[in-house]
Formats: sequence, C-alpha cells, structure tokens
Amino acid sequence: MTQLEVTVLDKTFVPFISRETISARVEELGEAISKDYGDEPPLMIAILNGSFIFAADLFRALKINATISFVKLASYKGTTSTGSVITAIGLEEQLKDRHVIIVEDIIDTGKTLSAFLPEIHQRGPASVKIATFLTKPDALQYDVRADYTGFEIANRFVLGYGLDYDGFGRNLPDLYVLKG
Ligand code: IMP
Ligand code: MG
Repeated sequence: MTQLEVTVLDKTFVPFISRETISARVEELGEAISKDYGDEPPLMIAILNGSFIFAADLFRALKINATISFVKLASYKGTTSTGSVITAIGLEEQLKDRHVIIVEDIIDTGKTLSAFLPEIHQRGPASVKIATFLTKPDALQYDVRADYTGFEIANRFVLGYGLDYDGFGRNLPDLYVLKG
C-alpha cells in the first residue's frame, strides 16, 4: 500500500506517481522499444545507482532479445545537482556495432548524460538511444534528448522507484515528491 507521507532524514515526501501508473507506462516503453529494434538485439546500459529498478522493469518489458550491462557514474549530492561528473566505472562491455540504449532514472540538468555520451560514441556503437524514467524539462541545461521517456515532470525533487535522497528512499515502489 502507498504510504501517505514518507520522511527521509530532514524531509517529508508525498505520493506523486503510483506503482500501477509506473508499471503501465514501463510496459508501453518496453513495447515501443521492442517494435523499434525488432530482430536487432539492443544492449541496455543502465546507469547506477538510480536506474537499477527502472532498468530491471524495462528490461523485463522487452519482448525481443536484448542484453544489459551496468555502469556507475556520480554527479549528485543532496537535492540540487552539484555537477561534478565522475567517469564511468564498469564499461568493459563491447559496444562496437551494438545498438545501445542508455537507461537513466532521470534527466535533470542533462549534465550527467552530456558528459557520458561521448564515452559511448567513442566505442563505435551502431546506434545510441536514451531511455529515461523521468525528465524535468524546466531544469534542462544541456542538449540531451531522450528517445524514450516515462514521465515529464515539473522541476521538483522526487523520491522512490530507484531515486534517492542521500541514499535513502530508493526502495519505495511508488514515486514521491518533496512536500510543499
Ligand atoms: P543531471 O546530470 O543534472 O541530469 O542529473 C541526473 C542525476 O541527478 C540523476 O541520475 C539522479 O541521480 C539525480 N537527480 C536529479 N533529480 C533528482 C530528483 O528529483 N530526485 C533524486 N535524484 C535526482
Ligand atoms: Mg542517477
């Protein structure tokens, strides 16, 4: 059952997008991706930590052959983007001639992906697309566009379904938003 309020450290969050709504949308994205790729098995590259829940659901929503790999970057502290993007850990996967789908939890300013995309392109993939659970169009500062977006949301801090506040709240099955 959805909790009516969640308090993490010093902040209180209220329900925003239910697990049912999320699940239906992820199924739609999975179907769209399955149609677009057909018999060209894509390689999903999920960016840890935030995207692991979305990636797991999206991956299972694919009706086609596909592979998945995970990389770790970091660019976020507290509730505003601080910017300092660290380089990718764990990108040993062979990307040459693969159809890559980068999976993110949220595109906020776009800084993380704009820094990471060149690393991907350098490795000679056949194509690169972006799937993100959330985008905050009003926060975007870099020229990054998602090909598959779960939900466009206002520029407010959200929690749950993989997204955290200082490491907590990722295990909430619904999405919450900062109260007030
Ligand atoms: P960007 O580089 O500014 O696009 O920030 C992307 C990263 O910031 C995401 O992968 C998240 O980890 C984090 N982030 C941005 N907005 C939120 C939010 O509302 N809640 C939790 N994490 C967020
Ligand atoms: Mg993240």
